[in-house]
Amino acid sequence: MIYTLAIIKPDAMKKGYKEDIRSEILDNGFKIAEEKTIHLSKEQAERFYAVHKDKPFFIELVEFMTSFESHIMKLEKENAVIEWRNLMGATDPSKADQGTIRSKFGTDISMNATHGSDSNENATIEINHFF
Ligand code: CMP
Repeated sequence: MIYTLAIIKPDAMKKGYKEDIRSEILDNGFKIAEEKTIHLSKEQAERFYAVHKDKPFFIELVEFMTSFESHIMKLEKENAVIEWRNLMGATDPSKADQGTIRSKFGTDISMNATHGSDSNENATIEINHFF
């Protein structure tokens, strides 16, 4: 699989990190096959994160993801899913390796700057959600 879905989330967009994060992506050998900036509706956020609907943080997650614009990208690279997850670092920025995007631009486990698909199967679903 050469594609994955990446999102620059509202926290990073609000702080003006969009171009810094895009540059990191391009500098690390990804192509941005498609991209768009959108303000997610409640329905879109709920549908996108439906797998987490029973988690205690679901309401907080939907509120956060609808709080400001997000930048959505279809990334292209060999082994895109794992490569993008490695570049992002751990979900919790305080546990992410130094130099990773979440360690540099994230705030906490909720406001963690970026999203990436967690499997090839979900990458296809998530890409179809937006493009
Ligand atoms: P993401 O990779 O987009 O996938 C699900 C998101 O839920 C995750 O990044 C975080 O933004 C959020 N999340 C995961 N765990 C927690 C948590 N314990 N508390 C709040 N938000 C969380």
